[in-house]
Amino acid sequence: MGSSSSKHHLKENCLDPSEVKKKPVIFVLGGPGSGKGTQCDKLVKDFGLQHLSLGDLLRDEVKQGSKIGRESSKLMAEGKLVPTSVSLELLKKAMCTSSSRDCQGYLIDGFPRAIDQATAFHKEVKKPDMVIYLHAPYDVLEKRLLKRGETSGRSDDNMKIIQKRFITFRKETLPVVALYTSVLKRISSKPPSDEVYNKVHRTVEKLVWSCTQPSLGCS
Ligand code: AP5
Repeated sequence: MGSSSSKHHLKENCLDPSEVKKKPVIFVLGGPGSGKGTQCDKLVKDFGLQHLSLGDLLRDEVKQGSKIGRESSKLMAEGKLVPTSVSLELLKKAMCTSSSRDCQGYLIDGFPRAIDQATAFHKEVKKPDMVIYLHAPYDVLEKRLLKRGETSGRSDDNMKIIQKRFITFRKETLPVVALYTSVLKRISSKPPSDEVYNKVHRTVEKLVWSCTQPSLGCS
């Protein structure tokens, strides 16, 4: 889905992979409505991590009316992935803002969503130290998204597009989850969000602690 030979180019590339390698990188994956954003907001407060949500970065581009935003909005409104070249460059750019450079580590939400995104990130940045996979039954996710759709104003929070987002997730993103068995933490996001967070917090705490121990390292 995400072709890396896209014509899109973001010029700025200040990311220094050697600096990023010293900090934990956590991917937060899960189906639409699984609570990626909700859990990341809580983690940011507790651990000083930088939360980078691909969905939010793309919606910012749409709001600004940039070329990327104009070209992405149709794909997003159809529940499809934007090209890998776009998502990866947006992410790398966000990882080298000053607040990102000063952070304790990176929480990357909604990326990678396809195998080619994962391999490109490994090559250009690093492999993740941890992958949190939030899972819940589709009927639970659907109810949450429909409820949020009553007020969110998101063009993709309606029944027809929610089903398409589920299809994209199953086809493109589930194979990515299978790539990471050695660093994967599967957490059910069906319970209330504070209950989910108790588990998420404990999991991340261990990683952040081990990253501060020179003898252990991040992974
Ligand atoms: P994105 O914005 O990432 O959408 P998504 O993956 O569909 O996820 P959501 O933001 O809808 O849900 P979430 O898991 O963050 O849950 P949340 O915490 O908000 O991406 C949008 C689009 O951008 C994609 O479809 C694609 O087009 C494009 N895109 C993004 N990344 C891309 C990439 N890497 N490559 C290419 N294209 C990309 O919670 C949802 C609701 O549930 C909220 O109302 C919340 O309050 C509620 N809730 C959360 N947890 C609980 C709980 N435990 N119990 C009850 N309610 C809960």
